[in-house]
Amino acid sequence: MRRAVCPGSFDPITNGHLDIIGRASKLYDVVHVAVMINKSKQGLFTVEERLDLIREVTAEYGNIEIEAFHGLLVDFCKQRDIPAIVKGLRAVSDFDYELQMAQMNIGLSGVETLFVPTNPTYSFLSSSLVKEVATWGGDVAHLVPPQVLSALTDRLPKP
Ligand code: PNS
Repeated sequence: MRRAVCPGSFDPITNGHLDIIGRASKLYDVVHVAVMINKSKQGLFTVEERLDLIREVTAEYGNIEIEAFHGLLVDFCKQRDIPAIVKGLRAVSDFDYELQMAQMNIGLSGVETLFVPTNPTYSFLSSSLVKEVATWGGDVAHLVPPQVLSALTDRLPKP
């Protein structure tokens, strides 16, 4: 079984994340989506809500396993025998930090990181921007799956 992980905060999952997960799901037998818990960051959605949204929007792929994890990504990988991390690269600005993490992760445990170029349609997209635009009533319908749009509409106060 060839396994990979797509890690992130996913607060909430966007079409950019979904594009990377969908492409990884064609390359690997099983793709683990790991919602990494960062206790110092207050999310808009609870970890359970994020997991539920990811579960709903990835259901059609058929080979996705979704879990939350508190700790190092390499420990998540080691415990599940996952040799590869798949990450999207949106722009050169992502590269510096992603390269540092990839080098740290391979040094810590031998887990490889594979970078997938983001679909240019989503090269500017992040969960933070989606939340900011949606908070002020901007249209994000083309940036997130419909289930996420509906969750954002329910969660955010009307501007
Ligand atoms: O969606 P994000 O917040 O950009 O994802 C960043 C994430 C969660 C993938 C990264 O912070 C991470 O891997 N965190 C887990 C803790 C860890 O392993 N830290 C060391 C990274 S070298």
